[in-house]
Amino acid sequence: MLIKIPAASACNESDVTPEAIYLSRRSLLGASMAGVALSALPNWARAADPSHYDGVEAGNAPAWFKEKLPSAEWGAVTVEGEAITPFKDATHYNNFYEFGTDKGDPAQNAGSLKTEPWTVVIDGEVGKPGRYALEDFMKPYRLEERIYRLRCVEAWSMVIPWMGFPISELLRQVEPTANAKYIRFETLQDPKTMPGQRSGFALIDWPYVEGLRLDEAMNPLAILAVGMYGRELPSQNGAPLRLVVPWKYGFKSVKSIVRISLVSEQPKTTWQSIAANEYGFYANVNPTVDHPRWTQARERRLPSGLFSPNIRSTEMFNGYGEQVASLYSGMDLRKNY
Ligand code: MTE
Repeated sequence: MLIKIPAASACNESDVTPEAIYLSRRSLLGASMAGVALSALPNWARAADPSHYDGVEAGNAPAWFKEKLPSAEWGAVTVEGEAITPFKDATHYNNFYEFGTDKGDPAQNAGSLKTEPWTVVIDGEVGKPGRYALEDFMKPYRLEERIYRLRCVEAWSMVIPWMGFPISELLRQVEPTANAKYIRFETLQDPKTMPGQRSGFALIDWPYVEGLRLDEAMNPLAILAVGMYGRELPSQNGAPLRLVVPWKYGFKSVKSIVRISLVSEQPKTTWQSIAANEYGFYANVNPTVDHPRWTQARERRLPSGLFSPNIRSTEMFNGYGEQVASLYSGMDLRKNY
């Protein structure tokens, strides 16, 4: 990725924060956690409503989103003991190459993205293909708040409260056939509203594509998000629909999705097509497999500055090993990076 990262020497082992404990009150920790009331969560994890978060810019949520908010399950999954990244940082330090390659470009340029009306196509190896207006696509799903770490391959990270629903629920709706082995996601291609797609210098062969193995997509942590910080997604964060897979590097979490296809072959994904030796299909967060040009052992947790770089050790699977490691048993993660 064309990136600006701190020199590896900026990382200091003494800055490392103790390993975090991961909490879920639903299926992720098994039956013993089921039914634990929201009130059992510590205060910092509780997000009863959007006003829980400071500095959230008011959005302009579509009616279907507003209607779902009262029944949302707040704090369905949380990260214990790690501060949530301020809204301003999460929305002004972005990667969304359709709107430019600098971190501030998406916030500046993504206002041109037209998110209403929005159509999502479901096709490929499914019993129930379809083409849906987003509000119809969303009808079956209850929103859950998922507070996840986001670890970018560029060695910075955040903690973001997403709002979405598990992809496993979508897969139940669309009924994958026996041939479906992978799920492929495609971002909108619209050079009129996406200046990065008009640029003659772009490395990317648009549209941006990402994919997961079907069993990865079925993991309860993998979600499709429509909101963050208790409101709809800001355009620069991938409105109106994006993927979030917290145990993988951020580039897997494709934004502004218009097409979801169930396929039999591993899809050709954007960054793997650009530099397969640097960005793999799996892209699991792995502190023991360095990027050819920098270490992945450490990360800079935003906000960070010159005098408080906020460096911490990167955890295997971004701290979600208990939930996802079994997906890769028997695989050589040095080869399948
Ligand atoms: N999706 C699209 N369509 N285009 C992109 O450039 N960048 C990826 C991912 N999804 C990207 C994308 C990368 S590299 C990261 S780290 C995350 O989005 C960043 O998400 P955020 O800006 O919401 O933090």
